[in-house]
Amino acid sequence: MPEENHIKKAAKIIQDGGLVAFPTETVYGLGANALDPDAVIKIFEAKQRPSFDPLIVHICDIKDISRLCLNVDERVYKLAKRFWPGPLTIVLPKKKIVPDIVTSGLSTVAIRMPANDVALQLIDKAGCPIAAPSANKFGKLSPTKAEHVMKQLSDVDFIIDGGKTTVGIESTVISLSNAGFKILRPGVITEEEIEFIIPRDNSNNINEAGLASPGLLKSHYSPTKPMCIFNDGDYYPESKKIGYLAFQKSKSALNYTKSEILSEKGDLKEAALNLFGALHRLEDSDVDMIVAEPVPEVGIGVAIMDRLRKASYIESEKY
Ligand code: TXA
Ligand code: MG
Repeated sequence: MPEENHIKKAAKIIQDGGLVAFPTETVYGLGANALDPDAVIKIFEAKQRPSFDPLIVHICDIKDISRLCLNVDERVYKLAKRFWPGPLTIVLPKKKIVPDIVTSGLSTVAIRMPANDVALQLIDKAGCPIAAPSANKFGKLSPTKAEHVMKQLSDVDFIIDGGKTTVGIESTVISLSNAGFKILRPGVITEEEIEFIIPRDNSNNINEAGLASPGLLKSHYSPTKPMCIFNDGDYYPESKKIGYLAFQKSKSALNYTKSEILSEKGDLKEAALNLFGALHRLEDSDVDMIVAEPVPEVGIGVAIMDRLRKASYIESEKY
């Protein structure tokens, strides 16, 4: 736990319109006062993030939902009761108090209450909701420790070092319509777990939130080295130094210049936790390319495969 005066100092910076990188349970966030458009602009500048990609607003008190959002129905409170604080982000119609820059002009705002004491204290002490995307350059690997933030971002007023995050991949993002919820970005809270609490929208309708969702970006979370997903029978040139990202302990991982094992025993939750750390180490090593072993696409595996596919999406495939 960082010293209390670090959190105090960071809260003051937020109040004064500055930028603070802070830990959450998922990844580090780059935060600013969500109600101050001049502060929020700095997030987009520091991350080199396009202004069409809306931010998540972090709260520390359930009362903030109705302060920031319209038409909050019973389903939201059911979800909050079951999953908050925790890695679930809910997209809801916004009130005027939320500046357009936060939501990229959309009529909805993404809200979550992080399960991390440092983050909750920071929001509480700052006395305002905190808008925060992951604290990485746009499209690059998400940070799961303070060093990862330092590696990528220079225009940050203060970084609170809260050690390694405990979940490792970004929150599950959902939209809600009268028909039910839809997953916009998979995370460790799975569709099945949410469906246990409220109904799912099984239609193919795409609402405004769906159109603006992170799922639309095919390339994201990318290491600075080329990356691909391993297929049985694939051949890689011997001249290339290959970094292998293995799901679990396997003999094949030994054949590569460097290898990282996400979970020795093949546990998906552990694999999610280790994913970005392993990718950062491979990115920082002397390998020429990264080859990732696919993981079983069930439960949390859906979110891991989403990140692996986006990380390995090649520029030329965009068109
Ligand atoms: O775990 C997380 O969610 C982390 C921590 C810091 O909270 N944050 C995070 O933020 O991953 P970011 O900005 O990297 O990803 C948030 C995603 C964006 O890709 C954005 O497209 C989507 O949430 N989003 C935000 N507001 C939205 C809205 N109104 N409608 C649809 N999607 C939205
Ligand atoms: Mg991000």
